[in-house]
Amino acid sequence: MGDKQSWNTDSYQKDTGFVSVLGAGVVEWLDPKPGERILDLGCGDGVLTKSLIEVGADVIGIDASESFVETANASGIDVRLMDGQALDFDHEFDAVFTSAALHWMLEPEKVISGVVNALKPGGRFVGEFGAFGNVAAIVSAMRAVGKSMGGDISLAYPWFFPTVAQYSGLLEKHGFVVDKIISFARPTPVPNGIKTWLSVMCGPFFRQFGEREDKAYDLVIDALKPSLQDFEGNWTADYVRLRFKAHL
Ligand code: BEZ
Repeated sequence: MGDKQSWNTDSYQKDTGFVSVLGAGVVEWLDPKPGERILDLGCGDGVLTKSLIEVGADVIGIDASESFVETANASGIDVRLMDGQALDFDHEFDAVFTSAALHWMLEPEKVISGVVNALKPGGRFVGEFGAFGNVAAIVSAMRAVGKSMGGDISLAYPWFFPTVAQYSGLLEKHGFVVDKIISFARPTPVPNGIKTWLSVMCGPFFRQFGEREDKAYDLVIDALKPSLQDFEGNWTADYVRLRFKAHL
């Protein structure tokens, strides 16, 4: 088995740029109501899931990471271990919500058809994830370094970052009416520095170099300085988000 992405629940929030805080805008698009049954798809550590529960919704989360599921369950949230590309629900939710998760699922049509099956007739699908152009400077730097060091450059881009047209097309193909969909730049401060961000988000790319791992970090970080580090030494990741609201 290859070296897979894994998550450390302690470092995720603090090292990747406050994912849930910046993701709060998409909750406004969801507009959850008391008593609604909502599925949080790829809920991670459950911080945003909690905000849905707090408005009185009846929420179930799913995530493919055992450590996230354990953390979320320990904080009292009903989260199940499930791959978002193999959802197993039967027309039981008023809404499916997702934040900062769909870009890790490389088979989007499997996700969308599972969401269709999970929703009641007329149900809504609302979410946000990385759009085309997300972390483009970082991907380009890793690809260039990967090539120069003779590595596997597919590990520099293990994500699905679609355009607005591409994702609307997929939603419509599966029977959704797209109410709104936008993409927007969201430069995201990386408080603990870019090396920590790279190690959390792109571990398999760097680990492939074994004893040369530190060299790979140095080269990538050097290439990124002009575009992502300001004059005071602060790092900002070049996030671009895709936010959508659709219904059956
Ligand atoms: C994100 O959570 O937005 C993200 C994930 C992977 C790469 C870049 C951004």
